[in-house]
Amino acid sequence: MAEPRPPPRVWVSQPLFDDVIARLEEYFEVVSTSDVAEYTPEQISAALSDASGALVTLNERIGAEQIVAAPQLRAVANVGVGYNNLDIPALSAAGITATNTPDVLTETTADFGFALLMATARRITEAERWLREGHWRQWSFQTMLGADLHGGTLGILGMGRIGRGIAKRASGFDMRVLYHNRSRLPEAIEREARAAYVGFDDLLARADHLLLVLPYSKQSHHLIGAKALAGMKPTATLVNIARGGIVDEDALAEALAGGKLAAAGLDVFEGEPAINPRLLALRNVVLTPHIASGSLATRRAMVSLAVDNLIAALGVGPNAGKPPNPISA
Ligand code: GLV
Repeated sequence: MAEPRPPPRVWVSQPLFDDVIARLEEYFEVVSTSDVAEYTPEQISAALSDASGALVTLNERIGAEQIVAAPQLRAVANVGVGYNNLDIPALSAAGITATNTPDVLTETTADFGFALLMATARRITEAERWLREGHWRQWSFQTMLGADLHGGTLGILGMGRIGRGIAKRASGFDMRVLYHNRSRLPEAIEREARAAYVGFDDLLARADHLLLVLPYSKQSHHLIGAKALAGMKPTATLVNIARGGIVDEDALAEALAGGKLAAAGLDVFEGEPAINPRLLALRNVVLTPHIASGSLATRRAMVSLAVDNLIAALGVGPNAGKPPNPISA
């Protein structure tokens, strides 16, 4: 009798939640790691060389070089909604299914976007640092004056699911919501989100607070640079929970230092985890380590969805061949 074929191998690039990942073991031989790992492109190629599937995070870039080295690879499940770490056209051309984890993180990420906006506009982390440093001598009328959210105009650049979640929160704060998107949303959705579509320049000029929630691409690289920043109100706050590369950080630091923009809240950075030293030197920036989707429940849900996607994309399980979240080229 022929030997039974060994189960396909899948690579799990980072320590996630063991009990969630364990579901993969029903179908596959799982190669995982118990340490947070930083991989070189060659190490990723080596890890994929005998894998049929991979469950990866935004840290791991998979492009043509890795695909050539991975003859058996059929599916890559990204744990995250953004997938600029994956070369989707190259994966598609090689017949490899890529998936992501939308929806499950929408509300948590919108919560965080709003929290970061509040912290930035009301100078919460700056005030705490100042207090801890022992500067508070007596209550004063002028201490750490910030900008109001309520009654102000919120600009949302990128009106996908998360943008709409933020708009929903803003209406509870009596904010006027303007948005700009590659394509205008149907009127019914605009009405539900209580958001009005405006052109890019108009959005910059009118927003008291501007939130970036758009995908990162060649087109959005450094979209918020010196010219865009010069088009904003000097009293405005800018919050980025999308991808660092959308903002030209040197231009942002210059605007913040020169009084051309009041404050910025940044959860994402172009060279993360390295932070531009010019931003680190400023007081009027709130910096967080890419944690917008980071509630325990949501991170577990993201991993669980990525596991469902990988199982289905590799043609087994209850949704064999029909992963819930395929990414199209
Ligand atoms: C996180 O940044 C994500 O894209 O899910």
